Amino acid sequence: MTNTETLPEKAVLLTPEVLEYVRGQLPPFTDVQQELIDSTLALGGVAEMQVPPEQGALLTLLARLTGARVAVEVGTFTGYSTLALAEGVGPDGKVITCDVTDRWQEIAAKAWTRAGVADQVESVFGPAAETLRKLPDEPFVDFAFIDADKVGYIGYWEALVPRIKPNGLIAADNVLYAGEAASPHAEGNARAIREFNEHVLRDDRVESVMLTVADGLTLARKKN
Ligand SMILES: C[S@@+](CC[C@H](N)C(=O)[O-])C[C@H]1O[C@@H](n2cnc3c(N)ncnc32)[C@H](O)[C@@H]1O
Repeated sequence: MTNTETLPEKAVLLTPEVLEYVRGQLPPFTDVQQELIDSTLALGGVAEMQVPPEQGALLTLLARLTGARVAVEVGTFTGYSTLALAEGVGPDGKVITCDVTDRWQEIAAKAWTRAGVADQVESVFGPAAETLRKLPDEPFVDFAFIDADKVGYIGYWEALVPRIKPNGLIAADNVLYAGEAASPHAEGNARAIREFNEHVLRDDRVESVMLTVADGLTLARKKN
């Protein structure tokens, strides 16, 4: 392992002021994004599951940058990240998004329709492990985004890597788990994430980097 202790620290403490400044660098929300954020906030505590706007913008940018046409998302919730991916893959692209429940589908579908991307989105309901297993067993996915139950991450990864095209991208959310994943004593979801991170690091089918965006986002490129 590289000794990183002697390297200068380059991280910025993300105070509320710094975060507000970062978000001020994004384009203003579209009406649809604002309405989707508001209707998700109205759900109460579960709203924290929605990716923050800077992460949504990053997903769109990455999808555009990689020229992705087919995206697979694990964890739809109210559809904010799906919307970001759909914008990224463009009108000729497609996002297959899955969630164990359709509880929030009405909110999601309304936003996608209003944004004009509904035809690009295919929603599948049920445990993601089953949904992914039923996908074509060949590399057809350009971009995958994992953002669901943490204990399922390694299984989702293993289902997705063979289905990702060479040079395709997997993004996995919450890889810091509020910082808890950094502890060797991590338990529960934080331990599951820690094990996932070790799994990714050991996987020589990909090259990966962990970003300190939001709750931590790992980006992994499938090698040719
Ligand atoms: C963090 S939220 C996703 C947030 C979404 N990406 C967004 O930005 O709005 C996690 C989602 O994973 C779903 N989920 C949990 N366990 C699942 C499973 N076994 N299979 C599929 N989805 C699951 C939850 O229902 C929840 O909607």
